[in-house]
Amino acid sequence: MSKSIIDESYNKLIRGNKLFSDSRTFNDPEYFKKLSLGQKPDYLWIGCSDSRVPANEVTNTESGEIFVHRNIANLVVHTDFNLMSVLEYAVNVLEVKHIIVCGHYGCGGVRAAMTNKTFGLVDKWLRNIKDVYHRNQNELEQIMDIDKRSDRLTELNVMQQVKNLAETKIVQKAWHQGRGLVIHGWVYGMNNGLITELNTIHDNKEDLPEIYRYEFED
Ligand code: CO
Repeated sequence: MSKSIIDESYNKLIRGNKLFSDSRTFNDPEYFKKLSLGQKPDYLWIGCSDSRVPANEVTNTESGEIFVHRNIANLVVHTDFNLMSVLEYAVNVLEVKHIIVCGHYGCGGVRAAMTNKTFGLVDKWLRNIKDVYHRNQNELEQIMDIDKRSDRLTELNVMQQVKNLAETKIVQKAWHQGRGLVIHGWVYGMNNGLITELNTIHDNKEDLPEIYRYEFED
């Protein structure tokens, strides 16, 4: 790649930013001044890093509306201090009302996890999806078409991550305090831009094995 091509692709972002800033202030000169006062989003989004699934664009929302965490294949891993810090801040400080785990059909991470190939460090991360596969092996292996099988694994993976969130102390404490926190599992179709709602958990009585339930003193 020549230097001029690199410069052009880079400069596109700087020009785009100027257009963005101008367009927002065109209708509302106070737009950024208001945003800079603070954030109070109602939603935490846990999505895939895939460039084709941007939280604000696919939900037609604006800056300030969604607190976002993205990683490969939208996983909720209880030892991930990055995600857990985001979750704690979103639930306890921002007091979001909804947590959305959004997977997407055609997910490269899910596809990679279905193979026996090694890819590097990400193998350890994808191991979490292999566990979901193994738990649902009978159902999945009845699906002969590999694209359809990976799409079903994408759905099962999202539903598992919703449960993983329900198993955290952060979420259970919020429920204990009577805050109406709802966790939603979504899958996004890149071929039509539409979201399908998969599962919802809004208290710890639903679909949460006893062993994962915490008791709170206060
Ligand atoms: Co993906």
